[in-house]
Amino acid sequence: MRPAIRPATVDDLPAVVALDKVCFGAEAWSTVSWTTEFDRLSDDRAILVADEGDLVGYVVLLVPPVAPDVVELLRIAVAPAGRRTGIGGQLTTAALARCAGRTVMLEVAEGNEAARGLYQAFGFEEISRRRGYYAGGEDAVIMRWREDK
Ligand SMILES: CC(C)(COP(=O)(O)OP(=O)(O)OC[C@H]1O[C@@H](n2cnc3c(N)ncnc32)[C@H](O)[C@@H]1OP(=O)(O)O)[C@@H](O)C(=O)NCCC(=O)NCCS
Repeated sequence: MRPAIRPATVDDLPAVVALDKVCFGAEAWSTVSWTTEFDRLSDDRAILVADEGDLVGYVVLLVPPVAPDVVELLRIAVAPAGRRTGIGGQLTTAALARCAGRTVMLEVAEGNEAARGLYQAFGFEEISRRRGYYAGGEDAVIMRWREDK
């Protein structure tokens, strides 16, 4: 079954917090951080979820209200059992559909082959690096997407 992709509501907060823990472990955002993200939905955040009855994925965008400003893709994840079935792609398609005419930036760990593969598949290009940015000395790869590219 393909999940429905829809905007998150505050009712999704507990499920997103739980899924984030499953997907990121020690690197998960705290409940306080997620609450702040949800509080900003009326401001400059867009959170989309993949809903199969249970939540199986989410993506978080920082969308500045001033149109020329760059959108940041802050986080995307899919439940481990649902990976490589197209859900991450569905979420990315829906996220980028909200970014018409804008530039989207993100950072990804060099060794995160799944995420880098996903972003490349959608036309993100590496434009720079932050050397040794992550714990353990891993580089952060900075990627950019532009609709008209
Ligand atoms: C990155 C992530 C969201 C991808 O989600 P997904 O649902 O598995 O992705 P999809 O099945 O839609 O894959 C879309 C494309 O991405 C690429 N891709 C996905 N997983 C990949 C992998 N393990 N290796 C290489 N490329 C991969 C492929 O091009 C794939 O297309 P294909 O299956 O036709 O080859 C998922 O692996 C995940 O949740 N990872 C943990 C969280 C994380 O690291 N998030 C990114 C940092 S915030």
